[in-house]
Amino acid sequence: MTTPVTVDFTETDLDAIATAEGRVAVFVTPDGKLDQAGRRVNRLTKGTLARLIDAGALDGKSPGDVVTLDWPSGMAAKALDVVVLPRAASVDESRRAGVALGRNMGEAGLLLLGGSLKRPVEVVLGAVLRAYEFTVHKTSPAKTPGAVTAMVAKPAEVADAAKPALAVAEGVFFTRDLVSEPANHLTTTEFADRIAAMKDLGLKITILDEAEMEKLGMGALLSVCLGSATPGRLAVMDWQGGTKGDAPLALVGKGVVFDTGGISLKPAQGMEDMTMDMGGAGVVAGVMRTLALRKARANVVGLIGLVENMPSDRATRPGDVVTSMKGDTIEVINTDAEGRMVLADVLWYAQETYKPRGIIDLATLTGAAIVALGHENAAALSTDDTLCDGVLKAAKAEGEGLWRMPLGKAYADMMKSQIADVKNSGGRPAGTITAAEFLHRFIQDDMPWVHLDIAGVASVKSETTYAPKGASGWGVMTLNRLVADMFES
Ligand code: BES
Ligand code: MN
Ligand code: ZN
Repeated sequence: MTTPVTVDFTETDLDAIATAEGRVAVFVTPDGKLDQAGRRVNRLTKGTLARLIDAGALDGKSPGDVVTLDWPSGMAAKALDVVVLPRAASVDESRRAGVALGRNMGEAGLLLLGGSLKRPVEVVLGAVLRAYEFTVHKTSPAKTPGAVTAMVAKPAEVADAAKPALAVAEGVFFTRDLVSEPANHLTTTEFADRIAAMKDLGLKITILDEAEMEKLGMGALLSVCLGSATPGRLAVMDWQGGTKGDAPLALVGKGVVFDTGGISLKPAQGMEDMTMDMGGAGVVAGVMRTLALRKARANVVGLIGLVENMPSDRATRPGDVVTSMKGDTIEVINTDAEGRMVLADVLWYAQETYKPRGIIDLATLTGAAIVALGHENAAALSTDDTLCDGVLKAAKAEGEGLWRMPLGKAYADMMKSQIADVKNSGGRPAGTITAAEFLHRFIQDDMPWVHLDIAGVASVKSETTYAPKGASGWGVMTLNRLVADMFES
């Protein structure tokens, strides 16, 4: 697994600034005020910082922006990152500053002169999250970022406060690695093995194989596996950190390790992107990792359906009718609408087995979500305003884009089948909503439920708020915060 850089918090030691190699980050307020460390840097560099400020080099900069001076004279550092940040910067500004630092971070490490900062942990989190690279398949990997040393006031206290933030970073990295991994490496069974290894963190892991799912009547999920050599799995991660016997929150994820479309084959152009079609499952796995690492005081169960959607002589055909675990029959109009087939059975199993107090599912479910919202926002669709507002609020607080879209009977009616209870595709109009209405059928009455369509945000071809281009880990921070805000005692 790609591990986040090591972070150490220490007392401010002004004499260590001159000799620090690697990068040094110094913080300047938007009106050009230096703190104690800044004054030392200024003295070491014979007034360079003051000249930079007086010359107006920081004018027009926003909180979190960085101006870099390479090879500053009077210091051993290879670069001085001058960060514009108010002392009482917001969470968002603090993280943005960290992200700007993380973007530059090299092998030599970073000395962060954060003695005057109100939110040093958020700055560090931003840097750690941005300094990610998936190098598993490079024979000569690029430089991995060196350690961060943060000089702060009350280092022991800050180090304690940083622990849950670093648990978040580990969860996000776990998700990004899963999403980045190609399908010949991350098969369904390999995915299940990586989940099983999380038992060491205190999670109770259950893995169902095809025979067990067959017995449970999961004909919808199993219809997606038929064409693939890598078998279907349902993996359950149970975290019991709350009151014994309390109903858990259930997190459900779509884990299609590769989506060719099946017999309704996708075009070749861009098909390689479908290695990320397990993004929902990746987020669920990442959140469960974070919750376990920070020993969250809540009961949360994560369930992911792991399949591969392949064409073959045994694959499901368009027109086939299959029976779900719930008992509803489904006409398969399009074998490329496979995610909802998987979720139908995992959602039902989650409710029957764990009687949760609420369900949130995540899936790279529809291309229509990208048409509607691009790569800026995931789509939320929900039957429960309280739970949905909680998720929206958590997403906002974490800086992860999320926008609610409607549900409604007219959309559900678009999924009526001639010969079965429901069909799996309602065509192009309102594709994200009709997909959600399909899932809605498999949600029991009065069950609070939020569906998150993350097709546009799970992996993005340009840099996002906290991530370099590629897998973003979108959702880990939001769901971790939601659990903290709404479900922890
Ligand atoms: N995995 C895709 C959705 C997707 C598309 C995710 C692009 C990320 C980027 C999903 O399984 C799919 O193929 N959906 C179809 C549904 C249609 C056949 C009803 C779609 O969106 O075209
Ligand atoms: Mn598909
Ligand atoms: Zn898919």
